[in-house]
Amino acid sequence: MSQSIKVFAPATVANVTCGFDILGFAVHQPGDELLLEIRDQPGLEIKDIQGDQGLLPRDPQKNTVSVAIAHLLDHLKLDCGFNLYLQKKMPLGSGLGSSAASAVAGVFGANLLLGKPLETLELLPFAMQGEALACGSAHADNVAPALLGGFVLIRSYQPLDVVKIPSPSELYAAVLHPQIDIATKDARSILKKQVPMKSAIQQWGNVAGLVTGLITENYPLIGRSMEDVVVEPVRSMLIPGFQEVKRAALDAGALGCGISGSGPSMFALSVGQEVAQSVGEAMTSALQKVDIGSDLFVSAVNQNGPLILSQDAAP
Ligand code: HSE
Repeated sequence: MSQSIKVFAPATVANVTCGFDILGFAVHQPGDELLLEIRDQPGLEIKDIQGDQGLLPRDPQKNTVSVAIAHLLDHLKLDCGFNLYLQKKMPLGSGLGSSAASAVAGVFGANLLLGKPLETLELLPFAMQGEALACGSAHADNVAPALLGGFVLIRSYQPLDVVKIPSPSELYAAVLHPQIDIATKDARSILKKQVPMKSAIQQWGNVAGLVTGLITENYPLIGRSMEDVVVEPVRSMLIPGFQEVKRAALDAGALGCGISGSGPSMFALSVGQEVAQSVGEAMTSALQKVDIGSDLFVSAVNQNGPLILSQDAAP
């Protein structure tokens, strides 16, 4: 059995406009890389974290990756330990599911080093514990697509019921990360606690339309359904240039555009890589006009989720 493994877990776009806390999809880049070494003596030791500007906790009781692995080990009643080396290859507080990618890398890698006692889907609750630590809420719309790949619907949280949704192979995302931070905890705390019935009707019509559009490869339906009347009106106020960037994406041919997760990243869906690239460039220029730098990622929907990069890897 391997003594060490290096894995990759992808960034994710959660909510996908109308599906607050219940819809998400994975992209190919960016993502996190995690090297894990298994050891006989109990305990989790964070040996190194790169790419976080020193911001993430090194205390294993406070770090997303180690907390997720600790919950997995508790469940399996195992008292072995792990050394962790994390390379954050994506921005923190970006709305790209950074903490979810780390938690997923942790449970995915640990499960493999332990001889795969659990199926991938069974790892979800442990990754959610890591996410809860980072965001103050155990939502699964980043963690589930990072773990399972593809588009994922969280049909229910209690009991947890997660469904993969087929999506067209020509569907591409342009994901724009403005270089400002918004903490998920803060972006959740400003949301209204109640939704008027009229908005709820509009929102669940859109969710059903989006899911149907994905399954039937009906692009106009996907576009019409990418409307969020509940969360976006509140959160978009935190993102300078939001309306301009969205307008630029739609004018450049995107099917729809919205906030990625809790922001500040924004995403647009398009048909084909070429259109997605032009859409992303139009979004970047629109943000430049309000003097905010950004990073752009253009990707098809990542149907795989996490990957093994190498086994018995050296730190
Ligand atoms: N559904 C979560 C939220 C995702 O919007 O708060 C956080 O990335």
